[in-house]
This record gives sequence, C-alpha cells and structure tokens, in this order.
Amino acid sequence: MSTHTAWMARLGMRHPIIQAPMAGISTPALAAAVSEAGGLGSLGIGASTTEQARQQIAQTRALTGRAVHINLFCHQPAQADAQRETAWLQQLAPEFARFGTTPPAGLHEIYASATGNAALQAMLLQERPAVVSFHFGLPEQGLIDALRAAGIVTLASATSLDEARRIEQAGVDVIVAQGVEAGGHRGTFDPGQDSLMGTFALVRVLARHTRLPVVAAGGIMDGEGIAAALRLGACAAQMGTAFILCPESAASPAYRAELRSERAHHTGITAAISGRPARGIVNRLHALGHRHGLPLPDYPRTYDAGKALHQAASAQGCSDYAAHWAGQGAPLARAMPAAELVRVLAAELALSPGPAA
Ligand SMILES: Cc1cc2nc3c(=O)[nH]c(=O)nc-3n(C[C@H](O)[C@H](O)[C@H](O)COP(=O)(O)O)c2cc1C
Repeated sequence: MSTHTAWMARLGMRHPIIQAPMAGISTPALAAAVSEAGGLGSLGIGASTTEQARQQIAQTRALTGRAVHINLFCHQPAQADAQRETAWLQQLAPEFARFGTTPPAGLHEIYASATGNAALQAMLLQERPAVVSFHFGLPEQGLIDALRAAGIVTLASATSLDEARRIEQAGVDVIVAQGVEAGGHRGTFDPGQDSLMGTFALVRVLARHTRLPVVAAGGIMDGEGIAAALRLGACAAQMGTAFILCPESAASPAYRAELRSERAHHTGITAAISGRPARGIVNRLHALGHRHGLPLPDYPRTYDAGKALHQAASAQGCSDYAAHWAGQGAPLARAMPAAELVRVLAAELALSPGPAA
C-alpha cells in the first residue's frame, strides 16, 4: 500500500471520498452516513461553541463507530475597526430599509477561532476524534503536536505551495489542496495573499513539490472528477457542494431550491458576506461588496452584519443575502441520501480509467 493512502486505511476508509466539513451545513447524520458508507464523514465546527461541538461529536458517535473528521477554523482573532464597520453598515443601511429595519449598532466576533482556544482544544484532546483538520491557517504548534501524539490524523487546507510547505513543516499528516473552484470559504492563510490557483494546477504542483499525501478539493462532483484528481496525484477527493442536496444536510429549502435552479450556474467569490473570501451563489451582497470598494470589517465581524441582514430579509421570504456557499460544479449537484451518493460516486470511480501505471 502506498504510504500516501496508509492513513485512509488506518481510518477504515473504503473509498477515496471525504465529505467536506461544512460549518452550518454538515450534520451528525450526514457525517455518520458518509463514514458508514466507506467514505470519511466530517463536521465543520468553525461556527459552533465548544459545547455545541462536543454535542455534535457525541451525536455522530451515537450513529457510527467509524472514523469522524472534525474541522477547525484557525484564523487570527478579528480586530475591531470602527471606521470600517461604520462605513460598511452605512452601505448596508438601504438594504435593511428594504425590510423596514436598520443595521445593528455594532458588530461582534460571533465565532471564536480555534487558535488560542484552550477550552476547545482541551475538548478535542478529551474526545479524540479520529481526524482533525485546520482551515484558514494553522493553530499553535502545541496543538498540532498534542493531536498527533494522541494518535489523531491531522489535515490542513492549502491554496498555494507556500501554504503547503508551512503545513509540511508543522508536521501535519495530509494536505487538502483547495482550488479556486471550491465552494465555501477559501482556506487561504492570509486572505490578502490569494494565489487563486485552480484545483488542477494546485494538486499537481503540491503532488510534485511536497512529500505529504494530497487531497483534492474544488469542483469535484462525480466519479469522473475523483478519477481525474487521483490521476493528478491526489490520494482522495474532498467534496462539499456535492453533498449539500443530501437530505441529511442542514441546507434550508431556499438553499436547496437555488442549487437546483439556473442560479447554480453563477457562483462567485466575495468577502462581503463574512469578511473572508468565500465562493457562493451570486447574490446582492456580492454586488454590494464590489460597489463598496473599501476594506471590509475582519472575519467574522462582517458576518454579524450579513447574518442580521439575511435574518431580516428571510423573515419576509427573501434570500437575496444568504450565505449559499457553492462551488463551480454546483449545476452538477445531485439530490440523494448521502450513503447512496457515496455508493454512486464509488461506482462511477470504478468505471473511470484508473491512474496511469
Ligand atoms: C457549504 C459549504 C461550507 C463549507 N464549510 C467549510 C468548513 O467549515 N471548513 C472547511 O475546511 N471547508 C469548508 N468548505 C470548503 C470545503 O472544505 C471544500 O474545500 C469545498 O467544498 C470543495 O469544493 P466543492 O464545494 O466544489 O466540492 C465549505 C464548502 C461548502 C460548499
């Protein structure tokens, strides 16, 4: 067995398929169904408190004894910036007025980073999930070392070779190569320094220039896509958008309807929803961010404004400001139970030409 797939065998994975961690969208039922079906199911806890995360892990364990993957957001803590925040809230005021309301008086850091989060880190070392991954950068070295010493497989997202090298140097086990096609937040360490590499080139560069196993992420929607990623040198594919329409996901009816509509053909990257660049179905906030032209409040303070606006709008049946994250492969999303999707993906992969000998 290749040393690059040994970690998957250790986790009991029968297929090179990771259901991407998706904060707010992945659920214990989704993760458990994928792991039971022979892939790796994941929970994104970047928007959860330590207690909520502990509960999600317990709920998942009640559904499966197989490996589960917990994903952390490791951004630098947000800096309050009154000038930026006032300017952005003024830009949004006419949008709030559409729904007969006003912007919030101030913005808050609604989600804590895992970096420096002693309570969250202690919980993880106590619960010992089989896999822990990092997005938006790396946490302190002590956490990486402690997780690995506890026998936990570690993964980290890279959007460039430079980030991949930092992941390798930190002793992380596996690199998730996230291409610009990917749905959701860019994992870029410094959002101001995004190389915007596509999955195809990124996987190839990382497979050539790092020694770690590489998981491909971004725009992979079917067995043909997984086969292509494996051919490029990846050992597995991490897929998010493909799993949103599964009944086990937490996606709202409006999100599902958009993903099945013509709008799925139009995704774009904006920081105007959360404060960090993320790809989703294009909506009014994409245009507003573009028009604003000024630096936005830090992640996740911008998210506080976006969520307030979405709440006011959705109460009146409008989803113009929703965080409907989706990758460029969105029009290829299929609605079926997660276990069935894993089976279909594995069957499609088996029919695709394998990696060159
Ligand atoms: C709805 C949604 C939420 C996401 N949330 C997270 C997250 O919490 N943590 C993370 O590391 N990646 C997250 N991602 C990105 C995925 O890890 C992965 O890079 C992406 O889904 C791959 O592209 P695809 O959506 O085209 O399959 C999210 C993606 C989507 C679509």
